[in-house]
Amino acid sequence: MKLKILYCYRLPAILGCLTLRVLISMIFLHLNHVNADEHNHKYEKNEEVVLWMNTVGPYHNRQETYTYFSLPFCPGPKKSISHYHETLGEALLGVELEFSGLGIEFKASMPKTQYCEIELTEEKFQAFVYAVKNNYWYQLYIDDLPIWGIVGDMDKSDNSYYIWTHKKFDIGYNDDHIVDVNLTSEAKVKLELGKKITFSYEVVWIPSSVKFEDRFDKYLDPSFFQHRIHWFSIFNSFMMVIFLVGLVSMILTRTLRKDYARYSKDEERDDMERDLGSEYGWKQVHGDVFRPPSQPLLFSALVGCGCQIAVVSLAVIVFAIVGELYTERGSILSTTIFVYAATSPVNGYFGGGLFARMGGKKWIKQMVVSAFFLPFLVCGTAFVINLVAIYYHASRAIPFGTMVAVTCICLFVILPLTLVGTVLGRNMFGQTNYPCRINAVPRPIPEKKWFMEPPIIIVLGGILPFGSIFIEMYFIFTSFWAYKIYYVFGFMLLVFLILSIVTICVTIVCVYFLLNAEDYRWQWTSFLAGGSTAGYVYIYSFYYFFFKTKMFGLFQTAFYFGYMALFSLTLGVLCGTLGFVGSSFFVKKIYSNVKID
Ligand SMILES: *[C@@H]1O[C@H](CO)[C@@H](O)[C@H](O)[C@H]1NC(C)=O
Repeated sequence: MKLKILYCYRLPAILGCLTLRVLISMIFLHLNHVNADEHNHKYEKNEEVVLWMNTVGPYHNRQETYTYFSLPFCPGPKKSISHYHETLGEALLGVELEFSGLGIEFKASMPKTQYCEIELTEEKFQAFVYAVKNNYWYQLYIDDLPIWGIVGDMDKSDNSYYIWTHKKFDIGYNDDHIVDVNLTSEAKVKLELGKKITFSYEVVWIPSSVKFEDRFDKYLDPSFFQHRIHWFSIFNSFMMVIFLVGLVSMILTRTLRKDYARYSKDEERDDMERDLGSEYGWKQVHGDVFRPPSQPLLFSALVGCGCQIAVVSLAVIVFAIVGELYTERGSILSTTIFVYAATSPVNGYFGGGLFARMGGKKWIKQMVVSAFFLPFLVCGTAFVINLVAIYYHASRAIPFGTMVAVTCICLFVILPLTLVGTVLGRNMFGQTNYPCRINAVPRPIPEKKWFMEPPIIIVLGGILPFGSIFIEMYFIFTSFWAYKIYYVFGFMLLVFLILSIVTICVTIVCVYFLLNAEDYRWQWTSFLAGGSTAGYVYIYSFYYFFFKTKMFGLFQTAFYFGYMALFSLTLGVLCGTLGFVGSSFFVKKIYSNVKID
């Protein structure tokens, strides 16, 4: 999808045009690369093969990228190509493909050919010297296969800089598919002011036995992703889950049985004795435990949002496993946006239903907050980082057209779908069926030990869930910030399930302790205790930044910490919701078994 906003003149037309394009391309997102000839990856002899120039940037910093032609490279003589392709996901990721101008034809080898010449003016000279000094690499694409090459070379002994001027492409083909591309840089030329430099290329077609389905295998790094540590950590977390689930169910059934026994014995005693305060524990707060939490609007918006995030994460991970999405540029992001928009009713249904059960009246306000919470957060972060990026001229800067498209999706897809969900949720899911009545007057919360205070419980609650995911976080961070393609989505699915179970178990224990201390503010406590996992993830990202990356400078720091904060917050809402949902089942269960007089 290419957003050609120049063709729309007036604002309504722009909005209409874009929304239509976005909708259509979303619907046909997956049909697209079946039908379009560029995307079936099949070529006939002498058919045009497009070499795309993508980005150039320092090797140590995958996220700092500039367009290829921001360096004074010159394009080849060929001016036009027959098709252009860009998805929304690519645009958001800063992929900016530009045609190289180099003609390549399928199975037609080409001898060394000069394609352009530049004269090193002062400005161009400085630009190249800077790029060589900073270890700049560039990235190209042929038939969706990424190719990396180095800009130049440096001779430290006499402080001279060289640039590679010849690109030799060895392209492997299997039947009518391109299955392998190697780029060799040759012909090193010294950079000198005023010198004329000619660039050349060469194409060699080699029959290859690599299967088309396996052509991405050489980019994957099994020795990294399937390292013993990775398997070990999964196994470890899995044992932890078994242990934790066993522990929780044992403690709870035994303690609860004891509690019930004590309460029923109490009933046999006379009222006099009971009034003297022989009763204690969670039963005491039966008249308050279903009291709506403070800030019900925000709370139900967050829970609705968290339910949607859970569904989206699960769906995207499953799609990624089934569809091997990593082989397509930006397709994970495109899929995420599509699934997010499509699952908006989930958000409305659970958020709206919860809000109705809490007796909330301003449901439209709740719906808007719920629908726009995450989009607003994402856009806000992207906007701030964009400002910094524009200042640094990085190609990360998201073009205006993409922003308009995202706004349109929010207004014309997400909002109406959330509305549908909210109306359904309020009507079908909005009746209270609490086992206990809510007292008119809130019970005072008694003094308790410091470690039973909600803030302490919240902070402690995140430790175990974080422990079960932090090794996976290392792999995810590394594939995002360094040159590794994440492809082990099966691991990710396992870790996601483990995280959910651990979070739910831990928050149930937290809520039990809290209620036993006769503190009925369990809703926010369970949400935040689950969500505090994300706080630990954010702290871990500091460690990762300082010890595992070589990033520096304002742009990289802002980019890194901005997106990490966004990621952590999303994770926090997800874990918080899991915690709250798990503990509300628990609370309902224990109070429905107790006889209230
Ligand atoms: C590319 O390089 C790899 C490793 O050196 C080699 O195995 C493969 O055959 C090369 N492919 C082509 C098309 O030359």
